Amino acid sequence: MPTVHIEAKKEDVAKRVLMPGDPNRARYIAIKYLENPRIVNSLRGEFAFTGKYKGVDVTIFSSGMGIGSMGIYSYELFNDYDVDYIIRIGTAGSYLDDLKVYDLLLADSVYSKTYFDEEAGHENVEVINSSFDLNSTIMDTALLKNIKLKTGRVHTTEAFYTENKNYQPFIDLGCMAVEMETYALLYNAKKFMKHATALLTISDNLITHEEIDSEAREKKLDEMIVLALESIIKK
Ligand code: HPA
Repeated sequence: MPTVHIEAKKEDVAKRVLMPGDPNRARYIAIKYLENPRIVNSLRGEFAFTGKYKGVDVTIFSSGMGIGSMGIYSYELFNDYDVDYIIRIGTAGSYLDDLKVYDLLLADSVYSKTYFDEEAGHENVEVINSSFDLNSTIMDTALLKNIKLKTGRVHTTEAFYTENKNYQPFIDLGCMAVEMETYALLYNAKKFMKHATALLTISDNLITHEEIDSEAREKKLDEMIVLALESIIKK
């Protein structure tokens, strides 16, 4: 069932979806990890691939950047494609000294001051929880695979370039890191009573100004990708 934004046939999208922000990363994951990957969407360059991971159908669908883009794709995947599980896999900037670059952060909840909620239909839903079910599976899988994982609240912002460098109000609200998509994903998961969460690699630290280097970035992102794949096939 193609939508205005997705050309994939309904049967070509799996019930389990991983969403990186970047279409090229979606292709990288599909080629490296899926058996018989096939491209199922390329509309607007937002690539999606479906294939099997250890015998289970999985779709890797790029969300694009920001609440607006993630808001559209996650809505249509849940509502029109009957997707049940989505794990966002992405990067985030840390607000804390001891949440360092390369650390993996699993979002247990998300905070945003966005106007998206009001426009989409529900006023002032500032904090939304991730799927407890998905998070439990990811934490168990990380333990089994000896992958270190931190858990906490994520801040979704709409502006990447900001003049206000006072992050304390967000830290006071329990936010550990900032990115731009998780709020829209969890908003739609809640709306459609589906399961979603975000697994994030810290790419930069806004307090210490430490940044990830490109070689390590690839390796660490692979750890996150494998953890997400191994977890979603258990659902
Ligand atoms: N802001 C928003 N999104 C991000 C950042 C940031 O500093 N770092 C990684 N994703």
